[in-house]
Amino acid sequence: MEKQRLQDIDIKGKRVLIRVDYNVPMDDAGNITDDNRIAHSLETLRHCIKNDARVVLMSHMGRPDGSVDPKYSLAPVAKHLSQLIKRDVKMLPDCVGAEVEAHVAQMEAGEIALLENLRFHKEETANDPEFSKKLASLADIFVCDAFGSVHRAHASTVGVTKYLPAVCGFLLAREIGYLGKAIENPERPFITILGGAKVSDKVKLIKKLIEKADMILIGGAMAYTFYKLVGIGIGNSKYEPEGEPAAREALEIAKAKNFPLVFPVDRVVATSPGTAANSKIVNGDIPAGWSGFDIGPQTIEKYRNLLKAAKTVLWNGPVGFFEVEEFSKGTRGIADMLAGMEDTTTIIGGGDTAAAIRRFGLEDKMSHISTGGGASLSFLEGTPLPGVEALLDKEGVKGRS
Ligand code: 3PG
Repeated sequence: MEKQRLQDIDIKGKRVLIRVDYNVPMDDAGNITDDNRIAHSLETLRHCIKNDARVVLMSHMGRPDGSVDPKYSLAPVAKHLSQLIKRDVKMLPDCVGAEVEAHVAQMEAGEIALLENLRFHKEETANDPEFSKKLASLADIFVCDAFGSVHRAHASTVGVTKYLPAVCGFLLAREIGYLGKAIENPERPFITILGGAKVSDKVKLIKKLIEKADMILIGGAMAYTFYKLVGIGIGNSKYEPEGEPAAREALEIAKAKNFPLVFPVDRVVATSPGTAANSKIVNGDIPAGWSGFDIGPQTIEKYRNLLKAAKTVLWNGPVGFFEVEEFSKGTRGIADMLAGMEDTTTIIGGGDTAAAIRRFGLEDKMSHISTGGGASLSFLEGTPLPGVEALLDKEGVKGRS
C-alpha cells in the first residue's frame, strides 16, 4: 500500500517532528566517520524549511539501553548537520520534559532542533504509549525518514503515529521506491550478489531472490558454509554450523528450481588476516591452517562477465575482507564493474556493502545506496516494516501498526 508523502501535505508554519536515523559511526575523538545518513536527510529538511515549518528532529544513537551515556550523545551530529545545512541546529538536552517543550514552543519558522538520543529512555525501545504521547505532543505532524530504523517497532517509529498524522519523508520514499522496484518489478536480467559473514542472516533473502531474481552470485565468508556442505575443504575459514540447515535448504531449492546459484571457483587464503602479504590463491580445498579472505581472480573475472548482461543488480554483503587491502580485490573488482554499468540499475544494500563502496570512492556511480542495513534486508526478504506500515495510506487512512 502506498503511503502519504511529505510533499502531499500542507506543513506551512507547522511544527514537524521528523524521525531520522542519525545512528552514524564515530571515532574515539567524536568525529563522524561516515555522514551518509545525515547527508541524505537534507532533502526532507530543506523542504520543511522552504515551507516555513519548525523542525524537530529525533534519532537514536547506538544501544545505550535506556540510560544516559555521554558516549552516545547526538551533540556531534547536531554540529555536523549544522555545517551541512548551513544554519543553526539547536541541540536539546533531552528528548522529552519541560525544557524541551519550552524550547519547541518558542521555535520560529525555519528553525531546527535536534532532540537528545531517544534510547537514553528505556521507554523508546519498549514502544511505551506515554512516552510516545510526550514525543508527539511536540508537533503537529510526524514524518518518518529513518529508513535504517523502520524495522523496529519503537515509540519514535510506531508509537507516535497513534497521536499525529504520520507521513513518509523523501529519504524513506526513495529507499522504498528503489528496493521495492528491484524486488517486485525489476528490469531483467536481474542479478544479485550476496556476501557477508552469516548465511543464517540471509536465508530468507536467498529464498526470496530465488523466486524473484535471475541469478545469485555468492561470495564472502558465508560461501564457506556452503563449501563445507558440498565437501570442499575450508581449512580454518570462518564457518557457521548454525547456518548449515539454511545453506542446505538454499542449495536444495535452487537445485529443484534449476536456479543459478553461483559459487566462487577460487579464493585468496592466508594463515591469518594479519599475514595478508603471504596470501595465496587456491582453486580447490583450502589447506589446514589457512583461511579464505576473498574471492580469487578467476571468480572476479567470471562474476564480472556474468554481470555484463544485467539490467538490474542488487548487492548485499561484501565478497571479501575488504577492510584489508590485499583482500579487497574481489569487492573492488565487482564495485568497479558496477560503477561502469551506466545503463543498469545498481542497488547497494546498506551496512558493510555501502561502506565498501564509499571506501572505493564510487558512491556517485551507483543508482542507489541504501542507508539501512537490517532494514534493507528485512524489506527485501519481504518482512513487514512496522515503521512504514504505521504511516498514513495514500488515501488518508491510517495504516496497520
Ligand atoms: C542501524 O544502524 O542498523 C540502525 O540505526 C538500527 O540500529 P539498531 O540495530 O540498534 O536498532
